[in-house]
Amino acid sequence: MQSIATDFLIIGSGIAGLRAAMELAKHGNVLVVTKDLPTESSTEYAQGGVAVALSDEDEVGIHFEDTIKAGDGLCREDAVKVLVEEGPARILDLIDWGAEFDKEGTKLAFTMEAAHTKRRILHAHGDSTGRELMRVLTNKVASLSTVRRLQFSTAVDLIIQDGSCGGAYVLKDNEIITIYAKATLLSTGGAGQVYSRTTNPAVATGDGMAIAYRAGAVLEDMEFVQFHPTVLFAPSAPQFLLSEAMRGEGAVLRNIFKESFMKNYHPDAELAPRDVVSRAIISEMVRTSSNHVFLDLTHRDAEFVKNRFPRIYSTCLQYDLNITKDMIPVSPAAHYMMGGVKTDINGATNIKGLYAAGEVACTGVHGANRLASNSLLEGLVYGYRAGVAAAQQGAEVREGTVPDLRTGSSIALSEVVESGLSLRGSNLSNLRSSELEEIRTSLRRLMWDRVGIIRCGESLNDAMKNLLKWKYILDMDFNTRRGLELKNMLTVAFMITESALARKGSVGAHYRSDFKEKDENWQRHISVVKTSEGMKVS
Ligand code: SIN
Repeated sequence: MQSIATDFLIIGSGIAGLRAAMELAKHGNVLVVTKDLPTESSTEYAQGGVAVALSDEDEVGIHFEDTIKAGDGLCREDAVKVLVEEGPARILDLIDWGAEFDKEGTKLAFTMEAAHTKRRILHAHGDSTGRELMRVLTNKVASLSTVRRLQFSTAVDLIIQDGSCGGAYVLKDNEIITIYAKATLLSTGGAGQVYSRTTNPAVATGDGMAIAYRAGAVLEDMEFVQFHPTVLFAPSAPQFLLSEAMRGEGAVLRNIFKESFMKNYHPDAELAPRDVVSRAIISEMVRTSSNHVFLDLTHRDAEFVKNRFPRIYSTCLQYDLNITKDMIPVSPAAHYMMGGVKTDINGATNIKGLYAAGEVACTGVHGANRLASNSLLEGLVYGYRAGVAAAQQGAEVREGTVPDLRTGSSIALSEVVESGLSLRGSNLSNLRSSELEEIRTSLRRLMWDRVGIIRCGESLNDAMKNLLKWKYILDMDFNTRRGLELKNMLTVAFMITESALARKGSVGAHYRSDFKEKDENWQRHISVVKTSEGMKVS
């Protein structure tokens, strides 16, 4: 079994991880661990764009106000201030490095999305913004000689010694590798796969949240799951996102009788906050006994639609839908976790040596509901900040050493040693892979049905009763990626459900049909931490 020593370990290679790698590379050796291909991250699939106050008609103060309003009273204002104030500089860095944002003439083109009061969403190649940002960051990181990558490697658990994080155990090719590091950054993205309907790629199984929880990190705001209103709903088609930017460019939602309905739910109609639009769609689906509604962009010029949304146009065409002529069947799906591993504005968690950035983290920047297109900006701003802070922490660790758990002493940073360390614990799972897959499917359905867009005490208690049947899985060790993912998804499902039960009121994306208003203590944050007695929610 192999051990590796590095200065900095980054787990996850989306926008936040790569941006952090660029800062850390200036201060030592960086190892970026990726569960799949390096391109498999939510960033790669992000369509709509990146919000930033860079247009002539915009100001950071207005971006601040819009973010706070969308967060429904639960944003941490210092975190939002950092986001909107540092956002422009981080975007200009990207442009310097060759990012090709769409332009109108010689000027950057900004589009509109829900709950923004200004056109401030930059986009690239129409609807492939995330892919363009990944292209630029991947090239940049590839040019840095101090950054190495380990792909198809799944983080198992963090190494914790005397309350500090000293790296992680990683599963690669059926072997556990021990990676020692002076500072470790989690940038593993979200947990959409916990739900049966999701826009997230298959890798988004909440791994970073779960391993941080097992290590004793505090998680916060886990009840706030954002559901995207418009996701393709067609037989045999994937759960493909239809960007909010389509509504920004005039797309109309219609029920199965072709009636437009959003004006009946909110004065901002199609551009109402995401949670309002998702619930309105569910109401129309129930009212019309249907499993979908339609998104209609057929009134816009066909050439405009093809040029503005080329990826959406070509993907839908594969499923026999010509979006310039046909209305698109859609229904909501889980999209983004506002909650996650609690950090300060420098990405530091409550565990020394452990940092988090991007969707896995909860800086409090999104409050109870994320403003559309703020997440790529968050990845850039907080990935950068976490990189700077982790480098400083690394410098404090005695030069040339990292903790060696086998002996309690230290080993040289450059040393790569063969160790006799076995997979911790003897509770190796004996679940057959068919059982594992059945539980995974049932778990995802349960979360969609009982802890979804509209929750209530009865549905949440029912979910908890069912989750408890699988609790034994949390005590098992797994030596396969699918097994580890199941354990992580189950951990996250418990955290979401416990937090949703604890919040007896409706705020932002957390809507309880038995408590439709905000409760009197609504301005608190709910946190989750592992104790010797189990999961503690406070
Ligand atoms: C979209 O393109 O609709 C997604 C943008 C986001 O979630 O911020």
